[in-house]
Amino acid sequence: VDQTYIMVKPDGVQRGLVGEIISRFEKKGFKLTGLKLFQCSKELAEGAGACQKENLHRRAHNGRGAKLYFARVNLEKDSNVDSIEHYKDLKQKSFFPKLIDYITSGPVVCMAWEGVGVVASARKLIGATDPLQAEPGTIRGDLAVQTGRNVVHGSDSPENGKREIALWFKEGELCEWTPVQAPWLRE
Ligand code: GTP
Ligand code: MG
Repeated sequence: VDQTYIMVKPDGVQRGLVGEIISRFEKKGFKLTGLKLFQCSKELAEGAGACQKENLHRRAHNGRGAKLYFARVNLEKDSNVDSIEHYKDLKQKSFFPKLIDYITSGPVVCMAWEGVGVVASARKLIGATDPLQAEPGTIRGDLAVQTGRNVVHGSDSPENGKREIALWFKEGELCEWTPVQAPWLRE
């Protein structure tokens, strides 16, 4: 079953759109498996507990199978591990610094959603990157006006869905459950 990482960006949280955005995916019939409010600040990233992420400690194995832990010590000042890793494919873009500023400017709502075809369907529900081009009825088409303030993120492939969920959620934060409505969604 596909999984996708959906994130209400800081503008969506500030504008009080969290419930509305969660509702769209809930009503469609996808299954929520992870949910948290998370501040991924630059200040946090400068300290030892950057974004509270285990990815600071890269696990490796030595020749005899024992686990080795490497603490990442070369954290750049003014950088944010999670958001930079999250948007690493866009590093060369001119708007990248602005994008990192935007995404670390306030709390975000991190979500994992599961369902057959959820990755592509969520992208459709979200709409085009530029909200002025996004169709009415989509989240961005209904709720946003500018690419740099487009209120929500959605993974662009099943591989990235898995990668991003692993990046933003720690082990034990995801929940496996069976919604009672399952037989009413699929025959
Ligand atoms: P995400 O779901 O957030 O990944 O958006 P997307 O897949 O529709 O677009 P893409 O991955 O290409 O870009 C990621 C994010 O970078 C966008 O959602 C925007 O917030 C931001 N972005 C993309 N292009 C521009 C741009 O030209 N200017 C600015 N300021 N931001 C941009
Ligand atoms: Mg994208």
